[in-house]
Amino acid sequence: MCGIIGYLGERSAAPIIMASLKRLEYRGYDSAGVAIFNEADGQTSVVKSAAKVDTLVERLTEEMPEGRLGIGHTRWATHGRPTVINAHPHTDCHKQIMVIHNGIIENFAELRKDLQARGHVFISETDTEVVPHLIEENDQGDLVAAVRAALTKLRGAYAMAIFSQKDPDLLIGARLNAPLVVGIGDKEWFVASDITAVIPYTKKVLLLGEGEMVSITRLGPEVSTIGGASVKPKIIEVKWDISQAQKGGYPHFMAKEINEAPEAVSNALRGRLTDEGEVTFEEFGLTDRQLLKISNIKMVAAGTSYYAALLGKYIVEDLARIPVEVEPASEFRYRQPIIDQDTLVIGVSQSGETADTLAAIREARERKSKVVSITNVVGSSMALESDGVIYLHAGPEIGVASTKTFIAHLTCLYLLGIRLAAIRHRLAPERLRELTAELKTLPEAVQSVLDRAEQIQALAKKYSGHRNFMYIGRGINYPIALEGALKLKEISYLHAEGYAAGELKHGPIALLDGGFPVFAVATQAATLEKMVSNIQEVIARDAPVIALVTAGDHTLDEIEADRFEVPEVSEFVSPIVNVVALQLFAYFVATERGCNVDQPRNLAKSVTVE
Ligand code: F6R
Repeated sequence: MCGIIGYLGERSAAPIIMASLKRLEYRGYDSAGVAIFNEADGQTSVVKSAAKVDTLVERLTEEMPEGRLGIGHTRWATHGRPTVINAHPHTDCHKQIMVIHNGIIENFAELRKDLQARGHVFISETDTEVVPHLIEENDQGDLVAAVRAALTKLRGAYAMAIFSQKDPDLLIGARLNAPLVVGIGDKEWFVASDITAVIPYTKKVLLLGEGEMVSITRLGPEVSTIGGASVKPKIIEVKWDISQAQKGGYPHFMAKEINEAPEAVSNALRGRLTDEGEVTFEEFGLTDRQLLKISNIKMVAAGTSYYAALLGKYIVEDLARIPVEVEPASEFRYRQPIIDQDTLVIGVSQSGETADTLAAIREARERKSKVVSITNVVGSSMALESDGVIYLHAGPEIGVASTKTFIAHLTCLYLLGIRLAAIRHRLAPERLRELTAELKTLPEAVQSVLDRAEQIQALAKKYSGHRNFMYIGRGINYPIALEGALKLKEISYLHAEGYAAGELKHGPIALLDGGFPVFAVATQAATLEKMVSNIQEVIARDAPVIALVTAGDHTLDEIEADRFEVPEVSEFVSPIVNVVALQLFAYFVATERGCNVDQPRNLAKSVTVE
């Protein structure tokens, strides 16, 4: 969704805001804008562009606005096309109040009609523009009170940064159902959609809670609820640094992040798994006694995280023998899910801010279920609103397509499966030791896939001219086929479908012909022979086959297919190794086709609207 940044301090605001917008661009990139207040002439420069942040930066570089207070926005359009007029900041009738917004004001149409009836003039098609007009209407000399009054009239989701020319030593931030943090520097403060934006300037971050606002003066920040009750600020020290949010010599963030897969596994395991297979999570929040009471699990998630959750079902059911259902969060919340105090609801989300998943866990808590979230973002809404949290510890993921966080999610789900199995005494010590050893060797196995990326690149080159792809897998590698297809379609804009290999003959096989390649996850598995039959059915329809096979396994030797070998690991942990090959394939096909892999069209990293 949109990225927002605000600055109040001693330095020139514009360069800081531009650099921060670049780091926030993964959240949305169809248009951008800034407002900088210049105390010398009491005027605000508003500069906007109907293109990516770079175009804005070019314009600003030609004539850099002066001023130590400013806000900036990079947009993912919801209401109104990505035009200059619709780009943020938006302002009131007298162009005094500047507002940037991430989220959706659901009741904007009626608010706008009422405001127009009272003489307010609107220039954009956005929902956001009602906000400065509402503030203007409530402004009786106290900007904080006016903002409060305006916010209480809004329904929907927002993270906002606001300032007024009339009160140039005040920067206001507010959030409801959308993320906002406050960076605390040396005599300077930042409000931003996420920590990545402020990390070059400070590691001290105030986590603004749901329904809270912050008013920052040159004396520092004050936190309160939107209703006006004062709140004790929650301040954390960020543990990672800016180098983790830079490309580090790779051509794209996505390439860097795929290459961080071994580290993602190690970091998710670190300090949590003893050699004897004992698992501890630092902020898990639920006792063994509570876990023992659980009779069923529901996992809710979206997109790639949904596929991680699907895999979680295989893992947890196999290890702990607890029934697990997985549902897209967007579906879960709008039906009457059958859950109660004996259900553990697990929210799977790298950002911890996905609107659908957040709403699903809220629904679960209302129905008295226990909720655990597995997320990468410390202090994210899901983390704050769950009974317990398992952090991925994957470091920032900037590429819009999830890669290393998918790997980290899977690693955490293995750990959770072991933990749940252990308290139910479901795992024989021998099997537990074996599994522990397998998990600990995964980083090496993943690295060996990465070391042979050139072979995958050659395959990608060969197949990048095709418009349609089918991915097939079986058992625990079925969700990997789904994820492989999603990765390809989202970054290369090619049609790709994922199917359970055994389902192919029940319909989709009709699609296949010589121009429709099938990517088969055919690594060692109990069902490998069945997979071979499915591949034969594909070949009989002249469709080209790319097979992911286990090194040293000769089952597919006689089959006419392009192959990529992955190192031998057990079938149970093979998804982590296999998916890296599929991520690389998608990456190379997309780059071969000249697509912008880090910022694919129409997408945004953190989807904070429904
Ligand atoms: C795909 C992708 C999206 C996200 C989805 C959920 O590569 O990144 O499908 O997985 O939007 O996001 P989170 O995990 O933040 O809830």
